[in-house]
Amino acid sequence: MGYKHIPVMLKEVLEYLDPKSGQEFIDCTLGGAGYTVEIAKRVGATGKVLAIDLDKLAIENAKKVFKKTRLRQGYGGQVKNVILIYGNFKNLQKIIKEEFKGERDKFDGIVFDLGLSSAQLEDKSRGFSFQLDAPLDMAFGQETGNRKQETEFIINNYKQEELTKILREYGEEKFARRIARKIVDYRNDKSIKTTGQLVYIIESAVPAIYKNNLRHSGARKIHFATRTFQALRIATNKELESIEIALPQAVDLLRKGGRIAVISYHSLEDRIVKRFFKKESKSCLCPPDIPICQCGHKTQIKILTKKIVLPSEEEIKINPRARSAKMRVAEKI
Ligand SMILES: C[S@@+](CC[C@H](N)C(=O)[O-])C[C@H]1O[C@@H](n2cnc3c(N)ncnc32)[C@H](O)[C@@H]1O
Repeated sequence: MGYKHIPVMLKEVLEYLDPKSGQEFIDCTLGGAGYTVEIAKRVGATGKVLAIDLDKLAIENAKKVFKKTRLRQGYGGQVKNVILIYGNFKNLQKIIKEEFKGERDKFDGIVFDLGLSSAQLEDKSRGFSFQLDAPLDMAFGQETGNRKQETEFIINNYKQEELTKILREYGEEKFARRIARKIVDYRNDKSIKTTGQLVYIIESAVPAIYKNNLRHSGARKIHFATRTFQALRIATNKELESIEIALPQAVDLLRKGGRIAVISYHSLEDRIVKRFFKKESKSCLCPPDIPICQCGHKTQIKILTKKIVLPSEEEIKINPRARSAKMRVAEKI
């Protein structure tokens, strides 16, 4: 690996999930296998970790990572107490059913570390980074099969209004309309195939002050292409939809006292998690003017992080990727 992988908020994840010998966990986002390895060490030979990723490269990389650990090795780079699954966490229940044939349907903890991994960001053959000139492919996985690369398809085929909506909603980009217009102007001449072309287009669409000063977002500065890239990545992978679909399945799969931890990297993801936790921690969802509950909703979880958990200053210094991370944790009751 040409990059250094440091799992984000690992210490906090382990503190909250508190894996113990013999317990069973699901890591819905294997990535660089940082969480999986540490959880596997703690649950030991009698426990289990089921680790999912929709990027085949993450699965292959994990086998190499395992070789360097002291975990008990099985065959083909697998570790005995870890099951690696290539799949999308939006199909969590189905994955569990297929894997365990109904023999196991409750777990002690489930973790989601959303977004993309350092390996994906630094992969020169993919288009996640605006700092590398690469083909416009922001798909996490190989799911799209032989369909034309999804990001390239969006950029070259979506109507201007649809592009504006994506940039505005998923990127919270204030120059969404201008960027979308430039994209359409540019592609009328020639198709957009690389991240380099896209950065050039964004640069020509936004005001000078925005690109020269690297605009401020809260306390920190971000590159002028950050929000457009984020928006296209979210649209390509249908990220928000997957989280919405996966969270209720995850809570169903927890045993009493089991915990769910979600690490998110932007406000759109975090809002989904926050709302979901809030809803599932309530005993009734009826409007306040209805005297007797009619919805039949039952409290499913207790929120353990009333105040959101953020990475320490120390961690952010060592690993700048952690700076936008936010963790929420809940316990099944
Ligand atoms: C931030 S990384 C996880 C890093 C990991 N926690 C570690 O310790 O190395 C996120 C990973 O989730 C994967 N991913 C994103 N969306 C997914 C989905 N819907 N289903 C399965 N994996 C997904 C990405 O491919 C990526 O490898």
